[in-house]
Amino acid sequence: MRAIILLVMATMIAGTLLAGSMVAGAIESSDFDDPTVCKGCHGEIYDQWDGSMHSIAYTDPVYLAEAEMASRETDGLTDTYCARCHTPIGVLSGEVPPIGLENLSEISKKGVQCDFCHSVNKSTGIGNGAFMVSPDGIKRGPYDDSKAPYHESVFSELHTKSEFCGMCHEVYHPVTGIPVEETYTEWKEGPYSKTTQCQDCHMTPGVTHFEANPGKASEIGPERDHVYTHYFVGGNAAVTGIMGSEVHQQMAEERLKSAATLALEAEKKDTEAEITVKVTNAGAGHKLPTGLTEARQAWIEIQVNDASGKEIYHSGGLDSEGEVDPDAVIYHVVLGDASGNPTMKVWEAESILFDNRILPKETRVEKFNFAIPGGLEGPITVNAKLNYRSASQKFLDELFEEGEVVAPVIEMAGAESTIEVGNAPDEGVPGFECIFVLISLLAVAYLIRRRGE
Ligand code: HEC
Ligand code: HEC
Ligand code: HEC
Ligand code: HEC
Ligand code: HEC
Repeated sequence: MRAIILLVMATMIAGTLLAGSMVAGAIESSDFDDPTVCKGCHGEIYDQWDGSMHSIAYTDPVYLAEAEMASRETDGLTDTYCARCHTPIGVLSGEVPPIGLENLSEISKKGVQCDFCHSVNKSTGIGNGAFMVSPDGIKRGPYDDSKAPYHESVFSELHTKSEFCGMCHEVYHPVTGIPVEETYTEWKEGPYSKTTQCQDCHMTPGVTHFEANPGKASEIGPERDHVYTHYFVGGNAAVTGIMGSEVHQQMAEERLKSAATLALEAEKKDTEAEITVKVTNAGAGHKLPTGLTEARQAWIEIQVNDASGKEIYHSGGLDSEGEVDPDAVIYHVVLGDASGNPTMKVWEAESILFDNRILPKETRVEKFNFAIPGGLEGPITVNAKLNYRSASQKFLDELFEEGEVVAPVIEMAGAESTIEVGNAPDEGVPGFECIFVLISLLAVAYLIRRRGE
C-alpha cells in the first residue's frame, strides 16, 4: 500500500511540475535578479520583505527540518513537491533536489522573492504551486501606467487578487487529496471574499482591513495614493525571532492581538463556579488559526485564584514537557495516517481526524465549571486568555532535540472578572443599605418632630 502511494505520488508530482512551469530545466536561477538588485530603486519595499517569512521560506530551520524528515521517509519523493512553494526558483532551475542548502545558488536561498513573484505571468489554478513564470525581465504588478528605467512593467490583474496567494496558500496531499493547508478556501467560503483580498490585510497597514498607504513605489517613481507593503506578516513570531528580524516578530505579535476578541462571564451557582468565555475571530479573513494547522495552536487558558492569591483552578496551562493540558479547549487540526492514528507528518495524511478552528467572524462559546472550595473569604479572581503558538512542543520535539526549540506563547486576547464568595456581602443589591439608613433617619426625624409638638 505504502509503495503504491509513493509510486502514484511520484507520477503526480512530476505531472504537477510539468504543468506548472515552462519547460522543466530550461530556466536557470541566474535568469532572475537577486532582490538586492531591486533594492537599488525599491529600497523601502526591499526592507519590508527582508526578514519576512517569504524571504526565509527555504532557510527557515523548521521548514528544513521537516523537509529533511519527509525526504528520508519517502526516499526523496517529496523534495521538489515541498520546495516548489518554499523556493520556487530552486525547483524551476533544477537546483532542488537535493534538498538542503549546499547545492543552492544564493538567489534560490532567498525563498519567495521579488523577481519570482513579479515574473509570474499565469496561474493554472489554486494550490500546490499552480504558477507559471516567465523570467523575461518584464515586471508584472498592480499599475497600468508604470514606467521604469530598468524594466518593462505590465499590469497583472492576478497580482491584485487572492487567487495569486491561493496558488501556494493551499496545500493538498498529491495522492490522497487531503487538504493539509486550506487558507484560500477558508477565505473563499467566508464573509471576506466579497470585500477583502488577502493583499488588503497582509499588504497594507490595516491588518484586518484595507488601509491606504500613500507614498512612492520606487524612490525615483511618482507619488501614489496607495503602495502595497511587503511585510507579509502572519502569526509567526517564533521563526522571525530565531532568524533575527525584530520588526517582523513584533508585527506578528501585534497582528495576533488584533485577530480575536474575548468576553468573560463568571458566576457562582450553589457551590460551583461557572465560567463562560466567548471567543470571536474578529480580524482574520480565514479560520483561526490557519496554515500549518497540524502544528499551530490557539487555546483558552483559565486561571482562578482566591483572595490570598492561591491558585484554585487552572485550565490550559503548560505541563513540564511544554505541552498544553489535554483537557483544555485547543483550536487546531489533527491529521490521521492510514491506520487512523494521529500524525504530524503531512506526507502520511489520509484523513482529518479533528478540526475545531474558528471560522471568520464566528463567535465560540466555551464553558468551564469547577467546585468552589469551602471556607473561602473574599472574592476569587478569574483570568481568561486566548493564547497562540506557532507549534506544539510535540511537533518541535519530533524535528529537533527535545526542548531545543520552543515557540513563544502569545496572548491574543484576555479578560478578568471576580466572583464574590464566602462571608463577603454577596448577592446584596448595591445601595440597599443606603436606602435603609435614609428611611431610619427619616423615621427618627419624624419622631423628634412629633415629640416637639
Ligand atoms: C533602476 C531602478 C529600478 C530597478 C533596479 C527596479 N525597478 Fe521596479 N520600478 C522602478 C520604477 C521607477 C517603477 C515605477 C513606479 C511607479 O510606477 O510608481 C517600478 C515599478 C515596478 C513594479 C510595478 C509594475 C506595475 O506595472 O505595477 C514592479 C512590480 C517592479 N517595479 C518590480 C521590480 C523588481 C522585482 C525589481 C528587481 C528584479 C525591480 N523592480 C527593479 C524602478 C526600478
Ligand atoms: C509573494 C509575492 C511577492 C513578493 C515576494 C514580492 N512582491 Fe511585490 N507585489 C506583490 C503583489 C501581489 C503586489 C500587488 C498587490 C495588489 O495590487 O493587490 C506587489 C506590488 C509591488 C509593487 C507595486 C507597488 C506596490 O507596492 O503596490 C512593486 C514596485 C513591488 N511589488 C516590488 C517588489 C520588490 C522590489 C520585492 C522584493 C523586495 C517584491 N515586490 C516582493 C507580490 C510580491
Ligand atoms: C510561491 C508560493 C507563495 C506565494 C505565491 C505566496 N506565498 Fe505566502 N508564503 C509561502 C510560504 C512557503 C510561506 C511560509 C514560509 C515558512 O513558513 O517558512 C509563506 C508565508 C506567508 C505568510 C506568513 C505566515 C506566518 O505564519 O506568519 C503570510 C502572511 C503570507 N505568506 C501571505 C501571502 C500573501 C498575502 C500572498 C499573496 C499576495 C502570498 N503569501 C503569496 C508561499 C507563498
Ligand atoms: C480580514 C483580514 C484578513 C484577510 C482577508 C486575510 N488574512 Fe491572513 N491573517 C489575518 C490575521 C489577523 C492573521 C493572524 C491570526 C491568525 O494567525 O489566523 C492572519 C494570519 C495569516 C497567516 C498565518 C497563519 C498561522 O497561524 O500560521 C497566513 C499564512 C495568512 N494569514 C494568509 C492569508 C491568505 C493567503 C489570505 C487570502 C486567501 C488571507 N490571509 C486573508 C488577517 C487576514
Ligand atoms: C502549495 C505550496 C506548499 C507546499 C507544496 C508545501 N508547503 Fe510548506 N508552507 C506553505 C505555506 C503557504 C506555509 C505558511 C503557512 C503558515 O504560515 O501557517 C508553509 C509553512 C510550512 C512550515 C511552517 C514553518 C514555520 O516556520 O512555522 C513547514 C514546517 C512546512 N511548510 C513544511 C513543508 C513540507 C515538509 C512540505 C512537503 C511535504 C511542504 N511544506 C509543502 C506552502 C507549501
